[in-house]
Amino acid sequence: MAKVKRTYVCSTCGSSQPRWMGKCPACNSWDTLEEVKLDADLHAPISKSLEDTSFIEGVGLEIGVAPTAVPIAEARTSGVESLRIPTTLEEFDRVLGGGIVPGSVVLLGGDPGIGKSTLLLQSSAQLARTGVRTLYVTSEESAEQVRSRAERLRPADQSEHPDDLYVLADTNIARILEQIARVKPEVVAIDSIQMVYKPDLDASPGSVAQLRRCTLELTHLAKQTGIAVVLVGHVTKEGNLAGPKLLEHLVDAVLSFEGDRFHAHRLVRAIKNRFGSTLEIGVFEMTAMGLQQLPEGSSADANQEPRAGSVVCPLHTGSRTMLVEMQALTAVGFPGSVKRRASGVDANRLAMIIAVLEQHAELRLHDMDVFASAASGIRVNEPAADLALALAIAGSHLRRTLPSKTAALGEIGLGGELRPVPHLHQRLQEAARLGYDSIIIPGDRRNTSTRKGNESLPKGVTLVEARTIAGVIDSLT
Ligand code: TYD
Ligand code: MG
Repeated sequence: MAKVKRTYVCSTCGSSQPRWMGKCPACNSWDTLEEVKLDADLHAPISKSLEDTSFIEGVGLEIGVAPTAVPIAEARTSGVESLRIPTTLEEFDRVLGGGIVPGSVVLLGGDPGIGKSTLLLQSSAQLARTGVRTLYVTSEESAEQVRSRAERLRPADQSEHPDDLYVLADTNIARILEQIARVKPEVVAIDSIQMVYKPDLDASPGSVAQLRRCTLELTHLAKQTGIAVVLVGHVTKEGNLAGPKLLEHLVDAVLSFEGDRFHAHRLVRAIKNRFGSTLEIGVFEMTAMGLQQLPEGSSADANQEPRAGSVVCPLHTGSRTMLVEMQALTAVGFPGSVKRRASGVDANRLAMIIAVLEQHAELRLHDMDVFASAASGIRVNEPAADLALALAIAGSHLRRTLPSKTAALGEIGLGGELRPVPHLHQRLQEAARLGYDSIIIPGDRRNTSTRKGNESLPKGVTLVEARTIAGVIDSLT
């Protein structure tokens, strides 16, 4: 009998080692190496029944034809990207790059309870409503549960389930592939890949070997037949997509569903996308009727009374601008062990801003606890929010506020200087649209007239330009 080759794959970082070790040398996590038999892994053909299911013209690989090297201009263009299938949930489509590409595999990851199943079921139903046959495979619930959930999520103007939505409750990959061959859907959603297993593989469900093998079979299926596959993946307790590096290179796009389980706002972000930009985000709100798309803006209310420790900033990600309220609270701390806590804000960035405030704005914060957060559970990683955060901290500390209907944006340098931010025009437009009429931006008051883009300033908006953080803090009242 041929000797079976073994390798040991880390379930956290995906690196493979020739022998078992207690600690993964690549990512230093303990007890994460799992045995994987190599022969059973690659190159095995998928179910016979699927070999002739390439029913989408021009999509899918030519099986049995050995590929040859050709000049790039002569490479076959399948044009699959132009065949994108829109899910008609615009927020989701935008992250996908315009819709689901036939023959592609998308991995959707996120914490338990964040709404992955809801998003997938809603988009599957939407797809089916536009006549795209969709199979929703659930490996965690019964078909009945999915049906009653679909009923609850159904838009008010729809009284019936779409004919083209199929549901299958199974965890056996062979049977799932069989049903795919029978139903011949254009899109298959698998919720979740962790629970799917291949019985003739000598590994337990959920193990690295199973995860890899089942994903590979589904990837083969997608490439061979042009069926688009969307996989749900859970997140490990460390917050990584389970087997992140492990599955990342097998799929075309990795989306992450983020947000705080206790807040309504949910963000879909692309971590990898072979068919689109990774800058785009989609914003949803979880309601009793499922996920509702959140139109641009709408996250901060200009008519609120100004509050000390709260400053609004227009953030820009991908092609989307969003107003986010940055909040801070300072309180007298225990000398020598003051707390610095950030939620939705980078802790290092917070530390830097506190240091700048101490050095360049003469705020005495060294004996103060500082808590900072981005309201409504949104994670902010843009330097453009620096100024709003600094003003929130200063405001809370000095018990002063910005004038009402005022927003602030700008990056803060280590010298306390304010730096310009990209996409200024879109940010100003969005802030103006939501009722902010005064916006603090980095700049030099002396040459306002020569500033580019001034002519296209939204109506009724006053720009207050400032060069340093100290200068802006003086304008708190
Ligand atoms: P779910 O999609 O099951 O999350 P995941 O698949 O990521 O684990 O839904 C998560 C939560 O959303 C669940 O705890 C209940 C809540 N929810 C609503 O608030 N409204 C709804 O209409 C639905 C379907 C779920
Ligand atoms: Mg789920």
